[in-house]
Amino acid sequence: MGSNTKVQKDQGDWIVDLRSDTLTKPTPGMRQAMATAEVGDDVFGEDPTVNELQKRCADLFGKEAALFVPTGTMGNLISILNHCQGRGVEAIIGDNSHIFRYEQGGIAQFAGVMSAIVHNQDDGTLNLKELKSKIRPLDDPHQPHTRLICLENTQNCCGGKVLPVSYMREVYNLAQENNLLVHLDGARILNAATALNIPVSEILQYADSVNMCFSKGLAAPVGSIIAGTKAFIAGALRLRKALGGGMRQSGILAAAALYSLDHIMPRLGEDHVHAKMIAKGIMSVDQNVATLDVEDVHTNILMITVVSETVTPEMIVKRLAEVPAAEESELGCRIIIKGMPWGVKLLRLVTHNDITTADVEKSVQKIQFVLKEYSS
Ligand SMILES: Cc1ncc(COP(=O)(O)O)c(C=O)c1O
Repeated sequence: MGSNTKVQKDQGDWIVDLRSDTLTKPTPGMRQAMATAEVGDDVFGEDPTVNELQKRCADLFGKEAALFVPTGTMGNLISILNHCQGRGVEAIIGDNSHIFRYEQGGIAQFAGVMSAIVHNQDDGTLNLKELKSKIRPLDDPHQPHTRLICLENTQNCCGGKVLPVSYMREVYNLAQENNLLVHLDGARILNAATALNIPVSEILQYADSVNMCFSKGLAAPVGSIIAGTKAFIAGALRLRKALGGGMRQSGILAAAALYSLDHIMPRLGEDHVHAKMIAKGIMSVDQNVATLDVEDVHTNILMITVVSETVTPEMIVKRLAEVPAAEESELGCRIIIKGMPWGVKLLRLVTHNDITTADVEKSVQKIQFVLKEYSS
C-alpha cells in the first residue's frame, strides 16, 4: 500500500482517488528496490536489472524475448511500426481501443499506418464478421494491404472487460488464415490473467506481440514491456532507439517493475474484489440515477451509466468531491471521492494498490449518499 492516502486522511479528509490506476505511488519496498538496484548502460545492453526484467517477462509471457520501454504508448507504437513496415499498410483496430482513441493517431503520424476501424462491442470484443469484412484482398491495386489486427485486453473503455481466451484464439486463427499478425495492447493483461485465474502465457499464445504496462495496476512509477519473437524484439530495439526511448541506467526503473511482479501482481485480485464491492454498493441502494451490471465488473475498472435525464457524470463527479455540513454530520466524516466523467453518460472509477478495503467502504457510503440525494 502506498503512503499517500494515509497522509490525506491524517489531515482530516478521507480522500479516495479512484480516477485511474496510473495514480499509484511506489511503495516503500519498491523505492528500496529501486535505490539498491544494480545498473549499467542499457543502450550498451549492460544493465543487469533491465536484462533480468526482460528475461523474466519473456518467460512469464511464453515469448522468445522482451524489451523494456518507457511507456505503453511507445510500446504500442514500436510494435505497430515493427509489424507494419513499408507503405500502403493497414491495421484493424477497435473504435474504443486506447490505440485509436488516446494515442494521438501515432500509428498514422509516425508509422504511416492506416486504421480500419471495427466497433468494440460492450464485452470489449470486435465482432468477428465485421473484422473479417475489413481484411483487404491482396490482388486489388486500389486497396492498401491489411497486415495487423490489434486487440486490447483488458478493454479499458469497455469497463476493464476481459476478452475470453476462446475469442483470442478465434481472432488469432483468423489472422493466421489470412497471413496477418496480432498485436495485443495488454496494458492490463495481468488483470485479465488474474480474473481468469490462468497463466498469462495461456492468453498470450494467441498474440504475436504484446505490450504490458507496469505503471498501471502494478503500481510502478514508469515503464512498459513488449514481447514477441527474437526477430520482433531485434527490430523493436532499433525502433526504440530511433524514437528516443533508449534509456541508460534504467535498472532503477526495471527494479520497480521486478518488485511489482513479485509483490503487486499477486494482489491484483484484491482490486477486482474492491471494484465489485463498489458496484454492489451502487446497485444495492434505492436510487434511480446511475446503473451498472455487477457481473460486468471483471477487473479493477467500473464504468457506471448515468441514466438520469437531469444529472450528468460531471455533476456527480463534482458532488463526490464536495462535503456539505449536513453530509458530514450524517456520515460522521469528510469523505472526498475523485472519479472521472467518461463521455456523455458514463463515469469511470478504478481501484488500485493505493486503495484499501476501508477506502472502499467509505467510497460506498459516500456514493450511495450522493446518488440518493440526486434521486427523484
Ligand atoms: C489500454 C491502454 N493502453 C495503453 C496505454 C498507454 O500507456 P502510457 O500511459 O504508459 O503511454 C494506456 C494508458 O492508460 C491504456 O489504458
